[in-house]
Amino acid sequence: MTKAPLAILISGRGSNMAALIDAARSDDCPYEVVLVASNKPEAAGLATARAAGITTFAHSHKGLSREDFDAIIDAELRRAGARYVALAGYMRILSPGFVAGWAGHMVNIHPSLLPLYKGLDTHGRAIAAGDAEGGCSVHLVTAELDDGEVIAQARVPILPGDTAESLADRVLTEEHRLYPEALASYIRRHG
Ligand code: GAR
Repeated sequence: MTKAPLAILISGRGSNMAALIDAARSDDCPYEVVLVASNKPEAAGLATARAAGITTFAHSHKGLSREDFDAIIDAELRRAGARYVALAGYMRILSPGFVAGWAGHMVNIHPSLLPLYKGLDTHGRAIAAGDAEGGCSVHLVTAELDDGEVIAQARVPILPGDTAESLADRVLTEEHRLYPEALASYIRRHG
């Protein structure tokens, strides 16, 4: 089986990135990770990726326009031969031109049951609203923040006494299971 080349964009610790890299080791996984790139040269996930033998690229976005920065990332993704892009804790709003160039080929994981709680502080908002459940969503990336078609979700209960941190931990465990599975099934369907 020819595996689809996947690039992963991160800004931080990269635990979802690590889950995608681990899953890609299996023979029947339809993608291989060809690049991990970051807008934060200090992102901890870069060292994790390098330790796993993955090529990394880091460039700070500071002092650059959104368009100019995204053009730098886009050039690296193309140079690496990526066919799909997975955002994994990539905390940057993307320029419309960049998004258009990867339409149907770029996915994100967001820590809420979309369309609920787009943006930041998803767990704190779910608890404050008195929700019985939280969760995470894998969705296609469009120009609107956290707005593209949802391709998979996982739910967890919100328990009495939960804090944003305890709920985030419970959801993160599900993220690590959901993201590789959802991406693999999307790529199997779309080639
Ligand atoms: C994850 O919980 C992910 O869902 C979230 O950031 C965390 C990154 O953790 N993403 C967003 O909030 C995107 N809007 P990780 O770096 O350990 O994967």
